[in-house]
Amino acid sequence: MTEEKIIEIMEGTTKILVTEKSIKEKVPPKEPVFFNPVAKLNRDFSILAYSAFWKNFDKPKIFLDGLTGVGARSLRVANEISNAEKVIANDVNSKALTITQNSAKLNKISNLEVSENEACRFFSLFSKKGDRGSIVDIDPFGSPTKYFDCAIRATMHSGLLSITATDLQVLHGLAKKACQRKYYGVPIKTEYSNEIAIRLILGCLNFVAGRLDIQIIPKFVENDMHYYRVYAKILTKKDQDDNLGYISHCFHCGNRVVGKEITENCIICENKLHSAGPLWIGQLFDKKFIISMMEEIPKFVVDSKCEKILEKCELEAEMPVTYYTLDDVASKMKRSPFKIKNVIKKLQDAGFIASPTSLNPTGFRTDCDIDNIKKIFEN
Ligand SMILES: C[S@@+](CC[C@H](N)C(=O)[O-])C[C@H]1O[C@@H](n2cnc3c(N)ncnc32)[C@H](O)[C@@H]1O
Ligand SMILES: [Zn+2]
Repeated sequence: MTEEKIIEIMEGTTKILVTEKSIKEKVPPKEPVFFNPVAKLNRDFSILAYSAFWKNFDKPKIFLDGLTGVGARSLRVANEISNAEKVIANDVNSKALTITQNSAKLNKISNLEVSENEACRFFSLFSKKGDRGSIVDIDPFGSPTKYFDCAIRATMHSGLLSITATDLQVLHGLAKKACQRKYYGVPIKTEYSNEIAIRLILGCLNFVAGRLDIQIIPKFVENDMHYYRVYAKILTKKDQDDNLGYISHCFHCGNRVVGKEITENCIICENKLHSAGPLWIGQLFDKKFIISMMEEIPKFVVDSKCEKILEKCELEAEMPVTYYTLDDVASKMKRSPFKIKNVIKKLQDAGFIASPTSLNPTGFRTDCDIDNIKKIFEN
Protein backbone atom coordinates (compact mmCIF):
# COMPACT_ATOMS: atom_id res chain seq x y z
CA MET A 1 0.00 0.00 0.00
CA THR A 2 2.89 2.36 0.82
CA GLU A 3 4.05 2.37 -2.81
CA GLU A 4 0.52 3.11 -4.05
CA LYS A 5 0.25 6.74 -5.06
CA ILE A 6 -2.87 8.47 -3.78
CA ILE A 7 -4.18 11.54 -5.57
CA GLU A 8 -7.06 13.94 -4.95
CA ILE A 9 -9.83 14.32 -7.50
CA MET A 10 -13.03 16.33 -7.45
CA GLU A 11 -16.51 14.98 -8.14
CA GLY A 12 -19.41 17.37 -7.75
CA THR A 13 -18.10 19.61 -4.96
CA THR A 14 -16.43 16.77 -3.06
CA LYS A 15 -12.73 15.99 -2.85
CA ILE A 16 -12.10 12.26 -3.20
CA LEU A 17 -8.80 10.48 -2.56
CA VAL A 18 -8.18 7.68 -5.05
CA THR A 19 -5.21 5.65 -6.28
CA GLU A 20 -3.44 7.20 -9.23
CA LYS A 21 -3.73 3.86 -11.04
CA SER A 22 -7.53 3.97 -10.90
CA ILE A 23 -7.44 7.19 -12.93
CA LYS A 24 -4.58 6.30 -15.28
CA GLU A 25 -5.30 2.68 -16.15
CA LYS A 26 -7.92 1.81 -18.76
CA VAL A 27 -9.58 -0.76 -16.50
CA PRO A 28 -9.43 0.45 -12.87
CA PRO A 29 -7.68 -2.20 -10.72
CA LYS A 30 -9.60 -3.91 -7.88
CA GLU A 31 -6.47 -4.00 -5.71
CA PRO A 32 -5.46 -2.53 -3.37
CA VAL A 33 -8.70 -0.51 -3.55
CA PHE A 34 -11.28 0.06 -6.28
CA PHE A 35 -12.42 3.32 -7.80
CA ASN A 36 -14.04 3.80 -11.20
CA PRO A 37 -13.91 7.39 -12.50
CA VAL A 38 -16.34 6.49 -15.33
CA ALA A 39 -19.06 5.83 -12.74
CA LYS A 40 -19.15 9.58 -11.97
CA LEU A 41 -22.32 9.99 -14.06
CA ASN A 42 -24.18 7.41 -11.99
CA ARG A 43 -23.01 9.06 -8.77
CA ASP A 44 -24.26 12.41 -10.16
CA PHE A 45 -27.65 10.77 -10.74
CA SER A 46 -27.56 9.38 -7.20
CA ILE A 47 -27.08 12.87 -5.78
CA LEU A 48 -30.11 14.14 -7.72
CA ALA A 49 -32.24 11.09 -6.86
CA TYR A 50 -31.33 11.03 -3.16
CA SER A 51 -31.75 14.78 -2.75
CA ALA A 52 -35.16 14.63 -4.47
CA PHE A 53 -36.12 11.66 -2.31
CA TRP A 54 -35.19 13.32 0.98
CA LYS A 55 -36.95 16.57 0.06
CA ASN A 56 -40.12 16.60 2.21
CA PHE A 57 -39.09 13.27 3.80
CA ASP A 58 -39.96 13.36 7.51
CA LYS A 59 -38.10 10.27 8.76
CA PRO A 60 -34.37 9.98 9.62
CA LYS A 61 -32.18 10.75 6.61
CA ILE A 62 -29.75 7.86 6.95
CA PHE A 63 -27.76 6.51 4.01
CA LEU A 64 -26.41 2.95 4.21
CA ASP A 65 -23.72 2.29 1.57
CA GLY A 66 -23.10 -1.47 1.67
CA LEU A 67 -20.15 -1.63 -0.76
CA THR A 68 -18.57 1.78 -0.62
CA GLY A 69 -15.08 1.23 -2.12
CA VAL A 70 -13.09 4.41 -1.39
CA GLY A 71 -16.38 6.01 -0.35
CA ALA A 72 -17.11 8.15 -3.41
CA ARG A 73 -20.92 7.95 -3.23
CA SER A 74 -21.06 8.20 0.56
CA LEU A 75 -18.68 11.16 0.69
CA ARG A 76 -20.73 12.98 -1.91
CA VAL A 77 -24.02 12.30 -0.11
CA ALA A 78 -22.56 13.50 3.23
CA ASN A 79 -20.90 16.55 1.73
CA GLU A 80 -23.33 17.68 -0.98
CA ILE A 81 -26.83 16.87 0.29
CA SER A 82 -27.34 19.43 3.03
CA ASN A 83 -30.07 17.57 4.94
CA ALA A 84 -28.23 14.20 5.07
CA GLU A 85 -28.17 13.28 8.78
CA LYS A 86 -25.97 10.20 8.84
CA VAL A 87 -23.98 8.26 6.24
CA ILE A 88 -22.51 4.84 6.97
CA ALA A 89 -19.93 3.67 4.43
CA ASN A 90 -19.24 -0.06 4.60
CA ASP A 91 -16.74 -2.28 2.80
CA VAL A 92 -14.76 -5.45 3.50
CA ASN A 93 -11.58 -3.70 2.41
CA SER A 94 -10.00 -1.85 5.35
CA LYS A 95 -7.55 -0.01 3.07
CA ALA A 96 -10.47 1.48 1.14
CA LEU A 97 -12.05 2.59 4.41
CA THR A 98 -8.86 4.32 5.59
CA ILE A 99 -8.88 6.30 2.35
CA THR A 100 -12.60 7.07 2.86
CA GLN A 101 -11.85 8.45 6.34
CA ASN A 102 -9.00 10.59 5.01
CA SER A 103 -11.31 12.00 2.33
CA ALA A 104 -13.94 12.74 4.98
CA LYS A 105 -11.33 14.76 6.94
CA LEU A 106 -10.27 16.58 3.78
CA ASN A 107 -13.87 17.71 3.21
CA LYS A 108 -14.47 18.39 6.93
CA ILE A 109 -17.36 15.91 6.87
CA SER A 110 -18.69 15.08 10.32
CA ASN A 111 -21.79 12.99 9.51
CA LEU A 112 -20.00 9.99 7.96
CA GLU A 113 -18.96 6.79 9.72
CA VAL A 114 -17.12 3.87 8.20
CA SER A 115 -17.87 0.20 8.87
CA GLU A 116 -15.72 -2.81 8.02
CA ASN A 117 -17.97 -5.79 7.43
CA GLU A 118 -19.28 -8.22 4.89
CA ALA A 119 -22.20 -6.40 3.19
CA CYS A 120 -24.95 -8.80 4.35
CA ARG A 121 -23.67 -8.74 7.91
CA PHE A 122 -23.56 -4.97 7.75
CA PHE A 123 -27.13 -4.74 6.46
CA SER A 124 -28.29 -7.25 9.09
CA LEU A 125 -27.17 -4.82 11.79
CA PHE A 126 -29.82 -2.42 10.44
CA SER A 127 -32.66 -4.84 9.73
CA LYS A 128 -34.66 -4.15 12.91
CA LYS A 129 -37.60 -1.76 12.61
CA GLY A 130 -36.43 1.65 13.83
CA ASP A 131 -32.80 0.98 12.89
CA ARG A 132 -33.21 0.86 9.11
CA GLY A 133 -31.78 3.28 6.54
CA SER A 134 -33.98 5.57 4.47
CA ILE A 135 -31.67 5.21 1.48
CA VAL A 136 -29.71 2.00 0.95
CA ASP A 137 -27.24 1.33 -1.85
CA ILE A 138 -25.71 -1.82 -3.29
CA ASP A 139 -22.90 -1.36 -5.81
CA PRO A 140 -20.95 -4.63 -6.08
CA PHE A 141 -18.62 -6.07 -8.71
CA GLY A 142 -20.97 -8.00 -11.05
CA SER A 143 -24.42 -9.18 -10.01
CA PRO A 144 -26.19 -7.46 -7.08
CA THR A 145 -28.80 -10.20 -6.54
CA LYS A 146 -27.02 -11.90 -3.65
CA TYR A 147 -27.52 -8.70 -1.62
CA PHE A 148 -31.21 -8.15 -2.45
CA ASP A 149 -32.59 -9.92 0.60
CA CYS A 150 -30.40 -8.25 3.23
CA ALA A 151 -30.55 -4.81 1.56
CA ILE A 152 -34.37 -4.86 1.41
CA ARG A 153 -34.49 -5.79 5.11
CA ALA A 154 -32.21 -2.83 5.93
CA THR A 155 -34.44 -0.33 4.06
CA MET A 156 -37.19 1.34 6.08
CA HIS A 157 -40.86 1.47 5.01
CA SER A 158 -41.13 4.12 2.27
CA GLY A 159 -37.33 4.19 1.93
CA LEU A 160 -35.33 4.01 -1.29
CA LEU A 161 -33.10 1.15 -2.45
CA SER A 162 -30.61 1.83 -5.24
CA ILE A 163 -28.80 -0.96 -7.04
CA THR A 164 -25.99 -1.31 -9.58
CA ALA A 165 -25.48 -4.33 -11.84
CA THR A 166 -22.36 -4.73 -13.97
CA ASP A 167 -22.77 -8.37 -15.07
CA LEU A 168 -23.81 -7.25 -18.52
CA GLN A 169 -22.94 -10.51 -20.28
CA VAL A 170 -25.30 -12.40 -17.99
CA LEU A 171 -28.11 -9.88 -18.40
CA HIS A 172 -27.64 -9.63 -22.16
CA GLY A 173 -28.15 -13.31 -22.78
CA LEU A 174 -24.57 -14.50 -23.38
CA ALA A 175 -25.05 -16.82 -20.41
CA LYS A 176 -28.79 -17.58 -20.27
CA LYS A 177 -28.49 -20.27 -17.61
CA ALA A 178 -26.47 -17.96 -15.37
CA CYS A 179 -29.13 -15.27 -15.83
CA GLN A 180 -31.91 -17.65 -14.86
CA ARG A 181 -29.93 -18.75 -11.80
CA LYS A 182 -29.13 -15.22 -10.65
CA TYR A 183 -32.19 -13.25 -11.78
CA TYR A 184 -34.85 -16.03 -12.05
CA GLY A 185 -35.61 -14.88 -15.60
CA VAL A 186 -34.08 -15.30 -19.05
CA PRO A 187 -33.19 -12.52 -21.50
CA ILE A 188 -33.49 -12.43 -25.31
CA LYS A 189 -31.16 -10.48 -27.59
CA THR A 190 -33.12 -7.61 -29.11
CA GLU A 191 -32.46 -3.98 -30.00
CA TYR A 192 -33.91 -3.13 -26.55
CA SER A 193 -31.75 -5.59 -24.57
CA ASN A 194 -30.84 -2.91 -22.03
CA GLU A 195 -34.53 -2.49 -21.14
CA ILE A 196 -34.88 -6.26 -20.76
CA ALA A 197 -31.81 -6.26 -18.46
CA ILE A 198 -33.32 -3.53 -16.26
CA ARG A 199 -36.63 -5.41 -16.14
CA LEU A 200 -34.84 -8.63 -15.14
CA ILE A 201 -33.12 -6.82 -12.25
CA LEU A 202 -36.45 -5.35 -11.08
CA GLY A 203 -38.21 -8.67 -11.65
CA CYS A 204 -35.76 -10.47 -9.37
CA LEU A 205 -36.00 -7.67 -6.79
CA ASN A 206 -39.79 -8.04 -6.90
CA PHE A 207 -39.55 -11.81 -6.37
CA VAL A 208 -37.31 -11.41 -3.32
CA ALA A 209 -39.41 -8.51 -1.96
CA GLY A 210 -42.62 -10.53 -2.41
CA ARG A 211 -41.18 -13.27 -0.21
CA LEU A 212 -40.65 -10.65 2.52
CA ASP A 213 -44.18 -9.15 2.12
CA ILE A 214 -42.65 -6.04 0.63
CA GLN A 215 -43.76 -4.04 -2.38
CA ILE A 216 -41.28 -2.30 -4.70
CA ILE A 217 -42.08 0.80 -6.73
CA PRO A 218 -39.45 1.71 -9.36
CA LYS A 219 -38.70 5.44 -9.37
CA PHE A 220 -35.85 5.82 -11.85
CA VAL A 221 -33.52 3.64 -13.93
CA GLU A 222 -30.47 4.44 -16.03
CA ASN A 223 -27.64 2.71 -17.81
CA ASP A 224 -24.50 3.28 -19.82
CA MET A 225 -22.01 0.94 -21.49
CA HIS A 226 -20.71 -0.47 -18.21
CA TYR A 227 -23.59 -0.69 -15.74
CA TYR A 228 -27.31 -0.66 -14.95
CA ARG A 229 -28.77 1.32 -12.05
CA VAL A 230 -32.27 0.98 -10.63
CA TYR A 231 -33.91 3.01 -7.85
CA ALA A 232 -36.97 1.52 -6.13
CA LYS A 233 -39.12 2.64 -3.24
CA ILE A 234 -39.64 -0.04 -0.58
CA LEU A 235 -43.04 -0.44 1.10
CA THR A 236 -43.50 -2.93 3.92
CA LYS A 237 -46.85 -4.18 2.68
CA LYS A 238 -48.04 -6.98 0.44
CA ASP A 239 -47.94 -6.15 -3.26
CA GLN A 240 -51.51 -6.19 -4.59
CA ASP A 241 -50.41 -5.46 -8.16
CA ASP A 242 -48.90 -8.17 -10.28
CA ASN A 243 -46.09 -6.64 -12.29
CA LEU A 244 -44.27 -9.81 -13.32
CA GLY A 245 -44.64 -11.18 -16.81
CA TYR A 246 -42.99 -11.79 -20.16
CA ILE A 247 -41.93 -9.92 -23.26
CA SER A 248 -42.50 -12.10 -26.34
CA HIS A 249 -40.64 -10.86 -29.42
CA CYS A 250 -40.96 -11.67 -33.13
CA PHE A 251 -37.51 -11.74 -34.73
CA HIS A 252 -39.17 -11.88 -38.14
CA CYS A 253 -41.32 -8.72 -38.20
CA GLY A 254 -40.25 -6.94 -34.96
CA ASN A 255 -43.64 -7.27 -33.22
CA ARG A 256 -43.65 -7.67 -29.42
CA VAL A 257 -46.30 -8.78 -26.93
CA VAL A 258 -46.13 -7.90 -23.22
CA GLY A 259 -48.24 -9.93 -20.82
CA LYS A 260 -48.50 -12.06 -17.71
CA GLU A 261 -48.07 -15.20 -19.83
CA ILE A 262 -45.78 -16.16 -22.70
CA THR A 263 -47.33 -15.58 -26.15
CA GLU A 264 -46.35 -18.32 -28.59
CA ASN A 265 -47.06 -16.90 -32.05
CA CYS A 266 -46.97 -13.52 -33.77
CA ILE A 267 -50.44 -12.23 -34.68
CA ILE A 268 -48.91 -10.08 -37.42
CA CYS A 269 -46.77 -12.60 -39.34
CA GLU A 270 -47.65 -15.89 -37.55
CA ASN A 271 -43.98 -16.74 -36.86
CA LYS A 272 -42.88 -18.20 -33.53
CA LEU A 273 -42.17 -15.62 -30.79
CA HIS A 274 -39.21 -15.76 -28.39
CA SER A 275 -39.80 -14.74 -24.78
CA ALA A 276 -37.81 -12.96 -22.06
CA GLY A 277 -38.83 -13.31 -18.44
CA PRO A 278 -40.26 -13.60 -15.97
CA LEU A 279 -39.41 -9.94 -15.57
CA TRP A 280 -40.88 -6.63 -14.38
CA ILE A 281 -43.57 -5.39 -16.81
CA GLY A 282 -44.71 -2.38 -14.74
CA GLN A 283 -43.45 1.19 -15.00
CA LEU A 284 -39.73 1.98 -14.80
CA PHE A 285 -40.08 5.67 -13.96
CA ASP A 286 -42.20 7.75 -11.59
CA LYS A 287 -42.87 10.93 -13.58
CA LYS A 288 -43.25 13.17 -10.49
CA PHE A 289 -39.99 11.84 -9.07
CA ILE A 290 -38.16 12.51 -12.35
CA ILE A 291 -39.48 16.09 -12.36
CA SER A 292 -38.30 16.60 -8.78
CA MET A 293 -34.86 15.19 -9.72
CA MET A 294 -34.69 17.83 -12.48
CA GLU A 295 -35.64 20.52 -9.97
CA GLU A 296 -32.60 19.50 -7.88
CA ILE A 297 -30.11 20.10 -10.73
CA PRO A 298 -29.42 23.81 -10.02
CA LYS A 299 -28.37 22.95 -6.44
CA PHE A 300 -25.53 20.66 -7.52
CA VAL A 301 -22.54 20.35 -9.83
CA VAL A 302 -23.51 17.45 -12.08
CA ASP A 303 -22.83 16.37 -15.67
CA SER A 304 -24.95 18.26 -18.23
CA LYS A 305 -25.99 14.83 -19.57
CA CYS A 306 -28.16 14.36 -16.46
CA GLU A 307 -30.68 16.98 -17.54
CA LYS A 308 -30.88 15.69 -21.11
CA ILE A 309 -31.43 12.12 -19.94
CA LEU A 310 -34.01 13.13 -17.32
CA GLU A 311 -35.97 15.10 -19.93
CA LYS A 312 -36.35 11.90 -21.92
CA CYS A 313 -37.24 9.90 -18.78
CA GLU A 314 -40.08 12.35 -18.11
CA LEU A 315 -41.44 11.92 -21.63
CA GLU A 316 -41.24 8.12 -21.58
CA ALA A 317 -42.36 7.62 -17.95
CA GLU A 318 -45.90 6.52 -18.77
CA MET A 319 -45.24 5.02 -22.20
CA PRO A 320 -45.55 1.34 -23.25
CA VAL A 321 -43.06 -1.39 -22.33
CA THR A 322 -40.20 -1.85 -24.90
CA TYR A 323 -38.94 0.63 -27.49
CA TYR A 324 -38.22 0.47 -31.22
CA THR A 325 -35.04 1.79 -32.82
CA LEU A 326 -34.75 3.82 -36.00
CA ASP A 327 -31.99 1.54 -37.34
CA ASP A 328 -33.97 -1.62 -36.82
CA VAL A 329 -37.20 -0.29 -38.35
CA ALA A 330 -35.29 1.22 -41.30
CA SER A 331 -33.40 -2.03 -41.95
CA LYS A 332 -36.66 -4.03 -41.85
CA MET A 333 -38.03 -1.57 -44.43
CA LYS A 334 -34.72 -1.64 -46.38
CA ARG A 335 -34.52 2.14 -46.09
CA SER A 336 -31.92 4.51 -44.65
CA PRO A 337 -32.68 5.57 -41.03
CA PHE A 338 -35.15 8.38 -40.31
CA LYS A 339 -34.77 11.27 -37.88
CA ILE A 340 -36.09 10.66 -34.35
CA LYS A 341 -37.98 13.99 -34.13
CA ASN A 342 -39.76 13.38 -37.47
CA VAL A 343 -40.69 9.86 -36.46
CA ILE A 344 -42.23 10.91 -33.15
CA LYS A 345 -44.18 13.71 -34.86
CA LYS A 346 -45.42 11.39 -37.61
CA LEU A 347 -46.69 8.88 -35.06
CA GLN A 348 -48.34 11.58 -32.96
CA ASP A 349 -49.97 13.15 -36.05
CA ALA A 350 -51.37 9.72 -36.88
CA GLY A 351 -53.06 9.65 -33.46
CA PHE A 352 -50.61 7.43 -31.57
CA ILE A 353 -48.67 8.24 -28.40
CA ALA A 354 -44.91 8.44 -29.00
CA SER A 355 -41.80 9.56 -27.12
CA PRO A 356 -38.02 9.24 -27.21
CA THR A 357 -36.38 6.93 -24.64
CA SER A 358 -33.49 7.65 -22.29
CA LEU A 359 -32.26 4.10 -22.92
CA ASN A 360 -31.25 4.60 -26.56
CA PRO A 361 -30.53 7.79 -28.57
CA THR A 362 -32.28 6.35 -31.65
CA GLY A 363 -35.04 4.61 -29.70
CA PHE A 364 -38.71 5.58 -29.48
CA ARG A 365 -41.74 4.31 -27.58
CA THR A 366 -45.21 4.17 -29.06
CA ASP A 367 -48.51 2.34 -28.80
CA CYS A 368 -48.49 1.90 -32.59
CA ASP A 369 -47.70 -1.68 -33.69
CA ILE A 370 -44.82 -2.51 -36.01
CA ASP A 371 -47.03 -2.99 -39.07
CA ASN A 372 -48.52 0.49 -38.70
CA ILE A 373 -45.13 2.02 -37.82
CA LYS A 374 -43.84 0.80 -41.20
CA LYS A 375 -46.94 2.12 -43.01
CA ILE A 376 -46.66 5.54 -41.32
CA PHE A 377 -42.93 5.74 -42.10
CA GLU A 378 -43.58 4.96 -45.79
CA ASN A 379 -45.55 8.18 -46.19
C1 LIG B 1 -17.82 -1.63 -7.40
S1 LIG B 1 -16.95 -1.36 -5.91
C2 LIG B 1 -17.84 -0.09 -5.10
C3 LIG B 1 -17.72 1.25 -5.73
C4 LIG B 1 -18.30 2.39 -4.95
N1 LIG B 1 -19.68 2.18 -4.54
C5 LIG B 1 -18.14 3.70 -5.71
O1 LIG B 1 -19.15 4.35 -6.09
O2 LIG B 1 -16.98 4.08 -5.97
C6 LIG B 1 -17.32 -2.79 -4.98
C7 LIG B 1 -16.75 -2.81 -3.58
O3 LIG B 1 -17.32 -3.92 -2.89
C8 LIG B 1 -16.38 -4.40 -1.95
N2 LIG B 1 -16.85 -5.76 -1.61
C9 LIG B 1 -16.77 -6.89 -2.35
N3 LIG B 1 -17.42 -7.90 -1.74
C10 LIG B 1 -17.94 -7.38 -0.59
C11 LIG B 1 -18.75 -7.91 0.45
N4 LIG B 1 -19.17 -9.17 0.41
N5 LIG B 1 -19.09 -7.10 1.45
C12 LIG B 1 -18.69 -5.80 1.51
N6 LIG B 1 -17.93 -5.24 0.54
C13 LIG B 1 -17.57 -6.02 -0.50
C14 LIG B 1 -15.06 -4.30 -2.65
O4 LIG B 1 -14.01 -4.22 -1.71
C15 LIG B 1 -15.25 -2.99 -3.46
O5 LIG B 1 -14.70 -1.92 -2.76
ZN1 LIG C 1 -44.08 -11.26 -36.55
